[in-house]
Amino acid sequence: MGFSVRWSWFAALCLLSMGGEVRCDCTEAKMQIEGGHYKLTKKLETGSLLIYECPEGYYPFPALTRLCQPNGSWRPAPKRFAPQRCRIAECPDPNVLEYGNVSPPQEKYFVDNETSYECYSGYTMRGSSTRVCLPNGKWSGSTPICSRDTGDNCADPGVPPGASRTGNMFEIDDTVKYSCNGNLFLVGSSERVCQENGQWTGKEPACYYTYTYDTPLEVSEAFGSAIKDSLTTLEPVDDMQEGRKIRISKNGTLNIYIGVDISESIEEKHIKDARDAVSKLVTKISSFTVTPNYEIAFFSSDVFEVVNILDYLDNKIELSTIKTEMQKFEIGDRNTAGTDLNLIFKTFLERMAIIKQRAGDKGFKEHRHVLIIFTDGAYNMGGSPAPTVAKIKNMVYMNHTSEGETQSREEYLDIYVFAIGAEIFDDDLQPLTAGTGGEHYFRMKNIENLQETFDDIIDEEEVKGLCGLHKEYETASRDSKRKMYPWMAFISVQNEETSKKCIGSLVTPQFILTAAHCFAFGVLPEHITVDIDDGQGKVKKVKTLKIHPNYNVNAKANQGVKEFYDYDVALIQLQEDVQISNAVRPICIPCTEETSGALKLVGESTCKQQEQLLLKNHLEKLSFLTKTDNVVDEKDVHAKLGGNRDDCIKHALQAAGITTNNPKDAVTDNFLCTGGQTPFRDHIACTGDSGGAVFKNYEHRTIQVALVSWGTKNKCKAGGLVESDDTSRDFHINLFRVIPFLKSILGNDTQDVYAPLKFLEN
Ligand SMILES: *[C@@H]1O[C@H](CO)[C@@H](O)[C@H](O)[C@H]1NC(C)=O
Ligand SMILES: *[C@@H]1O[C@H](CO)[C@@H](O)[C@H](O)[C@H]1NC(C)=O
Ligand SMILES: *[C@@H]1O[C@H](CO)[C@@H](O)[C@H](O)[C@H]1NC(C)=O
Ligand SMILES: *[C@@H]1O[C@H](CO)[C@@H](O)[C@H](O)[C@H]1NC(C)=O
Ligand SMILES: *[C@@H]1O[C@H](CO)[C@@H](O)[C@H](O)[C@H]1NC(C)=O
Repeated sequence: MGFSVRWSWFAALCLLSMGGEVRCDCTEAKMQIEGGHYKLTKKLETGSLLIYECPEGYYPFPALTRLCQPNGSWRPAPKRFAPQRCRIAECPDPNVLEYGNVSPPQEKYFVDNETSYECYSGYTMRGSSTRVCLPNGKWSGSTPICSRDTGDNCADPGVPPGASRTGNMFEIDDTVKYSCNGNLFLVGSSERVCQENGQWTGKEPACYYTYTYDTPLEVSEAFGSAIKDSLTTLEPVDDMQEGRKIRISKNGTLNIYIGVDISESIEEKHIKDARDAVSKLVTKISSFTVTPNYEIAFFSSDVFEVVNILDYLDNKIELSTIKTEMQKFEIGDRNTAGTDLNLIFKTFLERMAIIKQRAGDKGFKEHRHVLIIFTDGAYNMGGSPAPTVAKIKNMVYMNHTSEGETQSREEYLDIYVFAIGAEIFDDDLQPLTAGTGGEHYFRMKNIENLQETFDDIIDEEEVKGLCGLHKEYETASRDSKRKMYPWMAFISVQNEETSKKCIGSLVTPQFILTAAHCFAFGVLPEHITVDIDDGQGKVKKVKTLKIHPNYNVNAKANQGVKEFYDYDVALIQLQEDVQISNAVRPICIPCTEETSGALKLVGESTCKQQEQLLLKNHLEKLSFLTKTDNVVDEKDVHAKLGGNRDDCIKHALQAAGITTNNPKDAVTDNFLCTGGQTPFRDHIACTGDSGGAVFKNYEHRTIQVALVSWGTKNKCKAGGLVESDDTSRDFHINLFRVIPFLKSILGNDTQDVYAPLKFLEN
């Protein structure tokens, strides 16, 4: 340790190291930042990172950070004519909207600037019609899109602010490509392909500035929903057999690999925060019934393994052991000088290879792998991890083609990258992510809030309240359909005179929404049962039945409408709340605060805004359910709105019992009209479909816009997926027209028997 110390003439402290090389400290001269401050990761020593910090809504300019070099100078060096300062954050240019106007037109948009969007006539809007520039350089709400009904397979995917898109065809297999303009870079899918199911692959990309970070809330929502999917896929299910509860464990093993970068480019405090965050994540995961195997390691130029996944192969490690091991970990005098990002991936790959060897090819097929990496992406040894990631993919995907393998194995591998730091190497990190559904790349300034972020994400209690949340795909599990339509309820009415079946929708834990005509005059609550399997007994008893006060089937018997179904709405109050879970959950209904949340409307929102988002296209694609025996299917229909409506409702005149020649006598403005063969061949409602929710999905949430009331032809007494003929039409009660009734009961806050829904003021 022999080195001499000398003062150089410019007052920097230099040390002569054993190797004979001179190392100087940096100085703080000219490092001030106007409007902000800075911190140093290793004082003024070589390798220290100077990190500028600005108040919320501002970012350091021209440099975000400076690095102290061995000769005592900073890189980048401060510029004489560009003093370091805090600049107000900008949002990406929203003037990329096609077929519409953005106001006010500005060259640049800063924090708190508001914009509003309007479509040219003949075009309809999806997304937010007003957006505010947020302090992290993102726009509030969702991308506005103006499009025309062209009958394309996929909807116009729009252009996010700051981006350019190539590709204007939206049929199956058509591809759109995105790039970001100027000094923005792209986060998310740069390419999306229109799939047969009418959805685009991937996720809408976004354009970020280098100072754009994801907020803890954004991370907890996005990562939460993604990881929850992995966890619930393997959750065992309870089955009732002869009154006994039997736990059916699903086949498959979940392996979670966590790697945390502790190299010098990352701050000291970071390690404690990272340790706490990882502990929290592991604890949260343990609240699920899946028990994953863990590999947990810190890394710099070496890998420091805290929990070895191979120990799980022989016997399970207690959660408490993981936590103790985590807490015990100290850097001590470990070498953290370099960063070998490739090495952590290689370590995980090696572990996988051993697991595969032990489990055998067949057994390994049932293993799912989740890799979670925390790093800033700055590596200086070991080379790019990209080839190792390719090997990991190859191992898990099993080359996609091994015999009998028809379905893609992409869902067996998720790689999440938490990019953390003042300076992030996005171009290197983003391509390392893998997995379907949901975001896998998160960008955070520091790791401080991560523990809380993880605390929020996997709180089952928290998501319990979310209306309309559902699984979007069918699985092999017995309650797969319930998870896709967790709000579905089946209603039976039985007394001496009638026996009738209807469908309803759970709108709060205590209320089912259905059609009034399901209940003939004289039906009492004790004649009604509701079937919702929430694990607490399938059949629910009814406390009260509330029919819309204006419903009167005979009201127009003398005016040529033998049966008049206006206000065909009823609410059933159950004797007890149902148990909310992934499989039993209310649907969102119009004009409530929760629905504004589901539609991502920000600030003061109105009922009208909701209606515009949900029922704007002159052909709005909607769905409802049908049930035959025990099979539930989804029917597709298109509501004919605006100029298409008159043509649709005129078919009401052909219905039995209608002698008036004005269709509006029978089909008031309170109905939506679906059916027919052009431009789409719709499904038609069958007898037992009455009362069911007519719904629309919006970003993973389901919103009920109407309920099945009546139709012109009875084409299917036996039920099932039956298609419309040329003249058959169905009419559904538009929920936007019966809000006062829904609000008077569901929103009644002067009682304490049930939790009221919050309805919007306007
Ligand atoms: C310090 O070293 C860097 C390269 O390591 C060089 O670019 C820079 O000019 C040097 N500065 C001084 C003041 O010698
Ligand atoms: C946009 O924000 C800038 C910076 O805060 C402000 O000066 C400007 O007046 C705002 N423009 C509008 C239209 O609000
Ligand atoms: C689950 O595993 C058991 C035994 O390992 C096997 O017999 C069964 O076929 C598996 N079930 C499925 C659905 O893969
Ligand atoms: C299949 O995987 C092996 C290694 O597991 C690899 O060598 C081979 O190139 C892969 N084949 C294809 C078609 O990807
Ligand atoms: C709300 O509940 C209270 C208490 O049960 C009841 O008296 C009142 O009539 C209800 N309001 C409506 C509009 O039903």
